[in-house]
Amino acid sequence: MTETAARTVLVTGGSRGIGAGITRELVARGRQVACGYRGNREAAEKLRADAPDRVLPVHYDLADAATATTVVGTVLEQFGTLDALILNAGTWNGGKLSTMDPLAWWRVVELNLGGVAALARAALPALRASGDPSIVIVSSVIGVIGHAGDTAYASAKAALIGFARSLAKETGRDGLRVNVLAPGFVDTDMTAEVSAKARDGIERATVLGRFGTVPEIARAAVFLSEDATYCTGSVLTADGGWSI
Ligand SMILES: NC(=O)c1ccc[n+]([C@@H]2O[C@H](COP(=O)([O-])OP(=O)(O)OC[C@H]3O[C@@H](n4cnc5c(N)ncnc54)[C@H](OP(=O)(O)O)[C@@H]3O)[C@@H](O)[C@H]2O)c1
Repeated sequence: MTETAARTVLVTGGSRGIGAGITRELVARGRQVACGYRGNREAAEKLRADAPDRVLPVHYDLADAATATTVVGTVLEQFGTLDALILNAGTWNGGKLSTMDPLAWWRVVELNLGGVAALARAALPALRASGDPSIVIVSSVIGVIGHAGDTAYASAKAALIGFARSLAKETGRDGLRVNVLAPGFVDTDMTAEVSAKARDGIERATVLGRFGTVPEIARAAVFLSEDATYCTGSVLTADGGWSI
């Protein structure tokens, strides 16, 4: 794939945080990007301003998985191809198993796993028609090593790893690579409410001594999507050494 090839990538949760960083990185590589948003169309439109012909804001809410086929259709109508998915959108809700409301607990799993699976399923025919298809799923290192107060989120993020590896085995002979990115703590709105005390503890437990930045994680996601051509079923940890 050259830097100028008309490759189309759908990024969920592309309007803010890590997803916005992924959108920017792909635009810089000359890609066509369908930038998924849930409620913040304005932020997705701002990203479009940098490359009006190559960024298409598309509405996709993990809570409304039934729209997945429509979303894929919109991307194909605009760009003609869909070569890659970067399934970044996710939602966090924490609490200990003993105290968290069971319905709220299950909702975290349903959104994070169900919303990803629905979009991957809807995109498979288009991906199979691509010359170099790939899927990257943004999980979390918490799904790998666990975290107190996060049984729901960790369950969902761990399930995404099993999902990705199984889908990789189902589709590898179609040329589709399916990989997982497992970030540690990254400075975004999702971590904005981490208290100063908790942040200090995390930073002291992190080998590199700091939170990750959005561009660092975005580059890792795009690496898996485009450059890691002999990787499938891989889980790339990007956590500054927090989990080692
Ligand atoms: N930040 C971290 O430390 C960290 C660590 C490990 C893993 N992750 C994972 O990385 C991914 C991105 O996290 P982030 O920190 O960038 O989050 P963020 O800054 O809170 O941004 C969330 C993005 O996802 C979209 N979104 C939120 N809920 C959604 C839903 N129900 N359906 C569809 N889109 C939704 C938002 O769209 P709107 O702007 O339209 O609301 C926004 O674009 C998530 O999967 C998260 O679990 C994050």
